[in-house]
Amino acid sequence: MTQTITVIRGDGIGPEIMDATLHVLDTMQLGLKYEYADAGLAAMEKHGELLPAATLESIRRNAIALKSPLTTPVGEGFSSINVALRRHFDLYANVRPAKSFPNTKSRFPSGVDIVTVRENTEGAYIGEGQSITEDGETATLMQKVTRKGSERIVRYAFDLARRTGRKKITVVHKANILKTTSGLFLKVAREVAAQYPEIECNEMIVDNTCMQLVIRPEQFDVIVTTNLFGDIISDLCAGLVGGLGLAPGANIGVDAAIFEAVHGTAPDIAGKGLANPCALVLGAAQMLDHLGKPDQAQRLRDAVIATLEAKDALTPDLGGEGDTMSFARAIASRL
Ligand code: NAI
Repeated sequence: MTQTITVIRGDGIGPEIMDATLHVLDTMQLGLKYEYADAGLAAMEKHGELLPAATLESIRRNAIALKSPLTTPVGEGFSSINVALRRHFDLYANVRPAKSFPNTKSRFPSGVDIVTVRENTEGAYIGEGQSITEDGETATLMQKVTRKGSERIVRYAFDLARRTGRKKITVVHKANILKTTSGLFLKVAREVAAQYPEIECNEMIVDNTCMQLVIRPEQFDVIVTTNLFGDIISDLCAGLVGGLGLAPGANIGVDAAIFEAVHGTAPDIAGKGLANPCALVLGAAQMLDHLGKPDQAQRLRDAVIATLEAKDALTPDLGGEGDTMSFARAIASRL
């Protein structure tokens, strides 16, 4: 059966890693059909708007999108289109696996296998109540955490653990200081955890979590946490296993899901053909899992691992001299 997916080529290195990823997917002959849609600066240039209605309609219709990174200006300018997409489709679960890979110059070439499940629709990132006084001296932001939002993300993490045979959940919080927001999240997490007695659950304050991750990452299995902490922790986890070029992420809701790389548009290397395509390729593997094709997802991951092991096409971030497309062709040749 043909499955149509919305494809967003994105900004910066986005088009390069998307072409590479689609080359790999095409080699697998999975019957995927691509419906191209624009978002971000590319959409602004073509259509005069950052998130055209046609893009939203395409994702709604197909329920699945593969997306390259989009630019968000720092400290000023327009708000994140990624956040807008997550809110529009209520993509409440951000799932970011970080697993040790061979030949990645990482601090932990083995022993790390962590999935961060990050709440994606609440907390500091939503920008509610964001304001700054006219004199520029005082800025405010509201952080909203709800029982409903907390319960569904913690439940998602436990269900994921159950489904994938994972044994332990760490609830990461800062309820000692943020007593209302993080406190509510933790309270609800404890209630949900009690309903999954077969899965071990522990609690950890976010600052200690960062230290523990750097010192002894093998103690973690699944981490569940709120939006801001999850964003930071998942990048930390990516750093443990070889960098952002290897870290995929899924944004999952009830009616739609968007699969991507954790990294951004990498303006420093955009247009040079030097970007590592693995993160988006591994995001495509998450997409295949979601589409009920776990064997194909594993086939793709195995091809990535075999290519890293062979070291014959690595991009400069992994210490190689290869380029984006030759890396993709090397992965495709091992499928
Ligand atoms: P970044 O992730 O784009 O780059 C950080 C560093 O990692 C750079 O040195 C870059 O060259 C390197 N890097 C990233 N991806 C790589 C890859 N595939 N291969 C090799 N090296 C890679 O983060 P930065 O510079 O903070 O953000 C740039 C832009 O990306 C900003 O506008 C930001 O808002 C946006 N961004 C978008 C995201 C998304 O669309 N999901 C996520 C994160 C950032």
